[in-house]
Amino acid sequence: MTAQPLRSRNWFGGQTLDGFAHRSWLKAEGFSDVVFDGRPVIGIANSWSELTTCNAHLRQVADAVKRGVWSAGGFPLEFPTISLGEVLMKPTTMLFRNLMAMDVEECIRAYPLDAVVLLSGCDKTTPAMLMGAASADVPAIMVTGGPMLRGVWRREELGSGTDLWRLWAERRADRMTDEEFCEAESCMSRSSGHCMVMGTASTMASMAEALGMTLPDNAAIPAPDARRLTLAELSGRRAVEIAKAGGPRPSEIMTAPAFDNAIRALMAIGGSTNAVIHLVAIAQRLGVPLPLTRFDELSRTTPFLVNVRPSGKYLMEDFFYAGGLPAVLRQLLALLHGDAPTVNGRCLADNVRSSECYNQDVIRPVELPLAGEGGLAILTGNLCPDGAVLKVSAASPRLLTHRGRAVVFEDHADMHRRIDDASVAIDETSVLVLKHVGPRGAPGMPEWGAAPIPARLLKRGVQDMVRISDARMSGTSYGTVVLHVAPESAVGGPLALVKDGDEIELNAPARTLTLRVADEELARRRAAWRPRPPHFTRGYGRLFLDHVLQANEGCDFDFLRGQTPVRAEDTAGPSHV
Ligand code: FES
Repeated sequence: MTAQPLRSRNWFGGQTLDGFAHRSWLKAEGFSDVVFDGRPVIGIANSWSELTTCNAHLRQVADAVKRGVWSAGGFPLEFPTISLGEVLMKPTTMLFRNLMAMDVEECIRAYPLDAVVLLSGCDKTTPAMLMGAASADVPAIMVTGGPMLRGVWRREELGSGTDLWRLWAERRADRMTDEEFCEAESCMSRSSGHCMVMGTASTMASMAEALGMTLPDNAAIPAPDARRLTLAELSGRRAVEIAKAGGPRPSEIMTAPAFDNAIRALMAIGGSTNAVIHLVAIAQRLGVPLPLTRFDELSRTTPFLVNVRPSGKYLMEDFFYAGGLPAVLRQLLALLHGDAPTVNGRCLADNVRSSECYNQDVIRPVELPLAGEGGLAILTGNLCPDGAVLKVSAASPRLLTHRGRAVVFEDHADMHRRIDDASVAIDETSVLVLKHVGPRGAPGMPEWGAAPIPARLLKRGVQDMVRISDARMSGTSYGTVVLHVAPESAVGGPLALVKDGDEIELNAPARTLTLRVADEELARRRAAWRPRPPHFTRGYGRLFLDHVLQANEGCDFDFLRGQTPVRAEDTAGPSHV
């Protein structure tokens, strides 16, 4: 690529009133004139926060990025973004993903940046940053924070979330004491980093890598491993190069073939259902059509290879030692668009061709997959006219074809009030239906889809049931859980019309979800249906309710789809002077 005029020169290049002001105020931080000599300015968008525990180490990562930027002749400037901590933020980080994407986009646009390094980690921080960077379209490279080291309790390995749900079920079934439960609590999260199963954070880090937005190996290097800081330093160096060259820009990397590659990778790693929503949202920013049917098409022809919880046995640390994502992509090369460009300037195939797998039980060869098809299925039918998602790889095979009677919970509070009520007729053949937990209904589409199995059934050894909702599910969860039902119940989707005792049929091999109720009866119920009053009447919540799209459209805001690319010729207008 040829050298491009630097956008930052519009701020720092002129002997003018504004040039004086822009340089003078930065000198308040102790910078010398050297930093204004025409070198590229590299923004480091940092979602560090002590409230986002998975991102709490990102200042150290930012220091490594700065080292790389300085050593390559750039001028790094770190800035904070809002941060979304999956565990502590209520009611759900998904309510704020689009807010963070707006923050990232507008900071890139408003500041004198020639390229940006995106530091993310916890679930929503990665898609939010990719969405914002896609819309601003300034050259960008992502560094994620990496997974935690594996948890160990007594002699048992513990995976974030996945084993918490399992231990909690054991506790509710009285097979574990309070003391044991408390002891395990201190053993699960024992280092910096994000959840170390193939949950949403690990999945989205893998998506960023498969899309080409990170350096190879980014997704799996554990957070405390020195090689994560090495990768950060190299990413800083690369950011200087792409700033000078004016690209590649996100729109030149995240093309339709790149999304195909990411979806193939998603299926091969048994990744989180949340990735479906996030990939659709990112694609819409770039004008890349990505219907749910594309996920199903690619799922049916992609082998499931990665044996990591919740769909498998191992943890992300094992995945890294086995070769990480490059080893998976190498196995898939015949199915991928190998010529897709990536942010390091090489194509995907060149990046992964020499990768090796060091443990074939963790990363299976294509001839010996965990399953012949990908881990996710897209369902349609009269209960989900615009689609629903099922993580087949985390479901019970015997329930993938199932007919049962609905037990309906009107919302999350109703479910918690009555799930263990002995007067509610539930057995292992029942289908648990949870309403009003979608994008508008909850609101924010929380990860409430994996409804708890009633304690009395747990004690009888029942470990899974068919559950259906318009919610999402934690990427760390497992079970036969149908999610993202669209349109959602809060806007009058067919899910709103289900009543106790209705027969529901799930046929995952045929990709159907059917409510066995006569059309005339459904029409009667529809005529009687009334929406609930809105959760918010002001503020950001109001904006969210007025503009959020349904799950099959990525839950972005309608007015945020597309781009307003920032270009070098964009001038900095007068600021405070
Ligand atoms: Fe942050 Fe799981 S809580 S990735």
